[in-house]
Parts: sequence; structure tokens; C-alpha cells
Amino acid sequence: MKKSKYASMPPIPISERIWPSKTLTESPTWCAVDLRDGNQALPNPMTPDQKRRYFRLLTEIGFKEIEVGFPSASSDDYQFCRDLIEEELIPDDVTISVLTQARPHLIDKTIKVLAGVKKAVIHFYIATSELHARFVFGLEQGEVVSTAVAATRQIRDGVNAMAESKIGLQFSPEEFTDTDLDFTVEICDAVVAEWNPVNGEKVILNLPQTVERRLPNHYADMIEEFCRRQKYPDRTIVSVHNHNDMGCAVAASLQTLLAGAQRVEGTLFGHGERTGNVDLVTLALDLEYLEIDTGLDFARLPEISKEVEEITGIAIHPRHPYAGDLVFTAFSGSHQDAIRKGLNRKDELTEHFDGWKIPYLHVDPGSFGRVYDRFIRINSQSGKGGVAHVMETDYHVKLPRWVQIDFARHVQAYADEAAKEISSEEVWEIFNKVYTGHDAPLTLEKYWPRPSDDDPEIIQGEVHLTYNDEKMVLRSTGNGPISAFVHALKQIDGLPKFILNEYAEETMGISADAEAICFVRLEFTESDRVQIGVGIGKNIDQAAVRAVISGLNSSLDGQS
Ligand code: KIV
Ligand code: ZN
Repeated sequence: MKKSKYASMPPIPISERIWPSKTLTESPTWCAVDLRDGNQALPNPMTPDQKRRYFRLLTEIGFKEIEVGFPSASSDDYQFCRDLIEEELIPDDVTISVLTQARPHLIDKTIKVLAGVKKAVIHFYIATSELHARFVFGLEQGEVVSTAVAATRQIRDGVNAMAESKIGLQFSPEEFTDTDLDFTVEICDAVVAEWNPVNGEKVILNLPQTVERRLPNHYADMIEEFCRRQKYPDRTIVSVHNHNDMGCAVAASLQTLLAGAQRVEGTLFGHGERTGNVDLVTLALDLEYLEIDTGLDFARLPEISKEVEEITGIAIHPRHPYAGDLVFTAFSGSHQDAIRKGLNRKDELTEHFDGWKIPYLHVDPGSFGRVYDRFIRINSQSGKGGVAHVMETDYHVKLPRWVQIDFARHVQAYADEAAKEISSEEVWEIFNKVYTGHDAPLTLEKYWPRPSDDDPEIIQGEVHLTYNDEKMVLRSTGNGPISAFVHALKQIDGLPKFILNEYAEETMGISADAEAICFVRLEFTESDRVQIGVGIGKNIDQAAVRAVISGLNSSLDGQS
């Protein structure tokens, strides 16, 4: 018989689960464990100054419960906790918690560290899974329960003697998801009975997925079943604490909330042992996306990310949900095109769908401090939509579709050659190099268009130019200044025959002295060649003649 490689994690017998048909409507309360679980897993743990900075950051975001350390295990954590209390750094609406194992001398030290605190929580944990209790610590279930009850009693006696402090209890049966559920209920009930919360007080029962060995639906089943079976539901707060070994921590936390969890522990960006704790930024912003007010403020997300990166020394992945550098960026041409069209029609779409809905952007990045203008970035996979967006947002140049198609080809060739992402400045340089400012061998000196004395609808033009170092003055007429100009040029001997078959003009920007930009497409009738020229000038006529000259010179240069 082939044995399975991994021990099976059988589903929880649960008769009528109701969580899958529930809808999330309320935010849990939050406990940030960055300064304990998160810090425990940093290659370079935080210095006391960094911890203060991080603590302040957490309070600014709006966390009201913050686990500040494991004071009985680390002298740094002990000192940090003392500093918070003695220097009165804890805002009145914030409750700190401290972690301890269920061992008498460690509990003693943990009670001492809280001397003088206004309010706090003592969080003790004990391993309840068979794997840990029996094989790591050599304890049977009965001994685990009596240790937990004794720890509760010791904490109760200790805090009863601290009349000026309000201290609550949190209990974590470590490896909850790997523990027999009947046993978890038994030990949690025993702890709550021993603590005996009265007058609305509640014990926090934190039921962790210490190592993620189960899929989110199993964790949710366990929470729903625990909530049903626990003896004192009115005197407890059910909390979840999910590590991310299988990469499902956010999904698991969301499902446990459906199943009855009221409180979530985690860290910013998922710092923590191994693959980390659940990422509270992603989780909270997912809830905000569902229109649930989390009480947390991530409006300054870029600054928060930077600060956390600086303190922890760990970079946030560029594809990290909401916070990563690349998550509101599109490189692919079809995505760029759709985003650009969506953003241009944002108001119409919002009206139609009764809320924000833009292709490839599930949220409005502006609501947490991300900016729109870097949505679209250019590399060799980018298409006309991408380059058009960059030209429009960065340079206020709206390209006609026939220019977009031609220009995207040039940008793509450049990006292929460069084999890297190219900057907005490079896009602008390519644009100018290909289309504008080509002023030889045809050099325009002056152009005077004016209405004819006989018929003001006819424009007479006089062009002064140099062609191959030969000065010329050409006169012609047309039904507008540009056609008069083009007719004049056609008189030049040796100039390839051309027709102007596309023309567009735009204003660059919105100010009163904004410049004009003209795009022309010249078709050379004897060679099937086409050339786009672009001119920028103080007025439309100036821009247009520059566009024609630039296009002609590009083709005479042999440039395509
Ligand atoms: O992951 C875990 O089980 C813990 C406990 C101490 C809550 O961090
Ligand atoms: Zn943990």
C-alpha cells in the first residue's frame, strides 16, 4: 500500500454550514501583531526607535489593538513596553497586548511589565495540537487543559492586584486548525470559566491557523462549528490569526469572517514567520472595496509602504495587491487601450454601472493615494493605446488614430532594441525625432498667406525657402493657407510628387497661450511611400506648414 506523502487534514464534520451563503457587511476589529509576530520574523529585528516609529504608524492608520511584544522572552520587548507605559505613548483609545507562554515565571514577568498601564491585554498561548502537545512537549490533553487553567488563574490573581489598570485576557490554542475541535472547545470553555468575565467583559479567544495546512473553507467550517459549540458565546470574542503557508491567508480570513469570527490579527503587508501573517492592508482594502468601513485609513498608502520598507528592510513586491509599484500599471497594448478608453469615459461608466467600473482596474487607486498618471507604461509589448496615453497625459498631445498606429510602430522598434521599459521622456524624444523639426534640405524662411483682393475665400501664398542651398520665392493660391502652401511647394523642380491625404490639428494643453500642433500625412504618388510630419507653432497655420516641411524633409532624408 502506497502511503500518502502528507498527513491528511480531514474536513470537519459540520452538518448545516451557513457561512457560504452569507454576505460580509461588517468590519471585524483589528489587532496588529507587527511588533511581535512580524518582528519575530525579521532578519534584522527592529531597534527600539524603529518600534516606536512603527507603533506610531499603526496608531495613525487607526489600529486600536496592538500587540507590542513578547516581553518575557526579549529584554528589548520588555524595555519597549516599559517605555510605552512610562512615557505615556499609548493613546487613550488604544489597547496594547503582550504575549506570553503559559509558564508561571514568564507570566509573572509579563504581569510586571504592565505596571502602571491604563489598559492592556495579556495574551497567553499553549499548543493544543497532538503534533505539538504530545510530540514536542510530551503533554497529554488533560495536562494541557490544567496548564491553561492554571495560567488563567495566575493572570487573574496578578491583575486583580493592579487596581489602577484594566487588563483583559486573550487565549490562543496554538495550531487550532490542527487540533481536534472538541478539545479546543473544551480548553477554551475551561479558560473562559476560570477567568469568569462579568459586566460585559469578554475574553478574546484567538483561534490561529499557526501553520496553514488547510484550505480556507476548512478553517471557516472550524470557526462556524466552534462558534456553535462554545459554552459562553456572549462572554467571548472569536478572533482569527492566519499564517500564509499556502498563500491563502487573505481568503481564509475573509471566509472565517463569514463563519463568525469577529476579530482579525495580522500584519501590514503580511510580515511574519515563514510566508508571514495575513496581510491586513490587502484584507482591509478588500473590505473597503466591498464598501465596508474598516476604521483603518490607508489614504496615504505609498507613504505607509515606504515607511514599512524602511523599518523592516524588506521590500514590498511590485505585484503586491494595492501597494506594489506595478499593480496599477499596464504594459500590454490591449490592456492599455481598454484602460485609456475606460478612463476617458469614467463618468459615463460610473453612471451606467452605478459605481466605479473601469477595464483592468478593480478599484480607484486614487482612494488610497496612488496616482493615475503612471497607469500605463511602455515596453515592447505596448500598443497604440499606451503611447497615446503617455503623449496625452504627459505632453497634452492628443494623437489622431492614424498617427497612433504609425508612432506605436516606431516606439515598439525602439523598445525592442532597448530591451527594457522606456520612459515617458524617451517616448517624447522618439516622437520629435521621427516627426518634428526636420528642416533640411527644404528650409522654410517665411510664408505669407493672405486673402485675395478679388475673392476673400481664395488665399494667396508667398513662400520663401531654400532647397538644396538654392533660395526660392514661390507664389500660389488655394482655398486655405495650407492648400496655398502645398500648391506652391509642388512647383519645385525635382521634389517628389506628393498629396496631403490626412490632416489634423489640436491644441496642446488648455491655457490661453497654448501652442497648436498639426499632423499631416503625405503620400508620395510615384513611390507608394507615406510620411507623417508634425509641426508645433504659436498658431495653426505656422504649425501646419512646419508639419508639411518636416514630413517632406524626412522623406527626402530617406527616413521612414
Ligand atoms: O501563529 C500563532 O499561532 C501565534 C500564536 C502565538 C497566536 O502567533
Ligand atoms: Zn502567528
